[in-house]
Amino acid sequence: MTILVTGGAGFIGSNFVLDWLAAGGEPTEPIVNLDALTYAGNLHNLASLAGDARHVFVRGDIGDRLLVDRLLAEHRPRAIVNFAAESHVDRSILGPGAFIKTNVEGTFTLLEATRVHLQSLELAEREAFRFLHVSTDEVYGSLAPGAPAFTEEHPFEPNSPYSASKAASDHLVRAWFHTYGLPVLTTNCSNNYGPYHFPEKLIPLVIVNALAGKPLPVYGDGWQVRDWLYVGDHCAAIRAVLARGRVGETYNIGGWNEKPNIEIVQTVCALLDEMRPDPAGPRARLITHVKDRPGHDRRYAIDARKIERELGWRPAETFETGIRKTVRWYLEHADWVAQVQSGAYRDWVATHYGGRTAP
Ligand code: NAD
Ligand code: TYD
Repeated sequence: MTILVTGGAGFIGSNFVLDWLAAGGEPTEPIVNLDALTYAGNLHNLASLAGDARHVFVRGDIGDRLLVDRLLAEHRPRAIVNFAAESHVDRSILGPGAFIKTNVEGTFTLLEATRVHLQSLELAEREAFRFLHVSTDEVYGSLAPGAPAFTEEHPFEPNSPYSASKAASDHLVRAWFHTYGLPVLTTNCSNNYGPYHFPEKLIPLVIVNALAGKPLPVYGDGWQVRDWLYVGDHCAAIRAVLARGRVGETYNIGGWNEKPNIEIVQTVCALLDEMRPDPAGPRARLITHVKDRPGHDRRYAIDARKIERELGWRPAETFETGIRKTVRWYLEHADWVAQVQSGAYRDWVATHYGGRTAP
């Protein structure tokens, strides 16, 4: 049996592929990895799989129906895990079109191709098939301080082009279950961090900027709250949902770890100071408050009791253990950091942060 992973060259997808193929004791079914290799996709993340016949990489777009049809017919996967997406809120504000194309139209294409493909399968194969859609807590919108954390019943109130496009894709997945009986599962996870995280997102950006002695941009007052989850824990949760999740259900995944951005940045600075002291002084001196993100959600928090109750999943890492591992990984992978900081990355930094001075 094979599983089809989309977006498996990105941050979470590549961690998932590596974990899946490394997982001792679990069946290591081969993976077909369909990824368009946008700016966020990076085959270097998967370099350790070179020559491993259990990993078949296909460069292509989830919105390419002919390609998806061909992959389904050729490999007859028993599941699809859909990570492929445009994933950065700031980029969605600058250029929302790509988010509609991949997150909405791409998911639609995958669902349609899967629906037609399932009709050609024997009943037993069809019943065993799963379409797991990986989504975000951002579809639920912003929470007031002290409001209860998001449960699976919380209404969708997306506020950014990114979260609106993910909410739209979640709705499509739901509709394909209710209307066509597609055997879907949806996960809505909080902010991830860990190895192979592209340094446009807060934690890796702060690590690479701090190591380079560059300003650490904090949007607005820095008191926006996110729930943070180590990426390996997210991958374990997805494996649990794929194996034992109830078809048609949604599972929230979170780290029970709400923290304001400013505290995250200070923690990373302190760890770097400990692990690689800077003769110029504590890294916190580099913290720079800059103009806020338009429509910036104030707080996300996940109530992850359903996945614990039904599937027995809980995060293995605390924030303290996970962030320490992450900072160490970046210190030990300077070559990976240098490789991703290509011309295109420098262009993004110049476009997004250039002139973004204090609020
Ligand atoms: P990422 O941006 O690092 O990776 C996305 C991957 O998808 C890249 O490899 C890219 O090349 C690929 N891709 C983009 N468009 C494609 C297309 N049209 N066809 C095929 N491949 C395409 O994203 P990530 O942080 O790894 O997120 C993965 C998924 O998890 C996304 O669906 C995201 O919404 C969701 N998610 C992310 C987080 C987080 O904190 N990063 C949290 C919750 C949910
Ligand atoms: P990010 O990593 O982009 O994830 P998301 O927007 O999906 O939550 O941002 C995490 C938080 O950090 C968010 O509140 C925005 C903030 N942030 C900064 O303050 N400075 C930055 O340079 C970036 C990239 C994010």
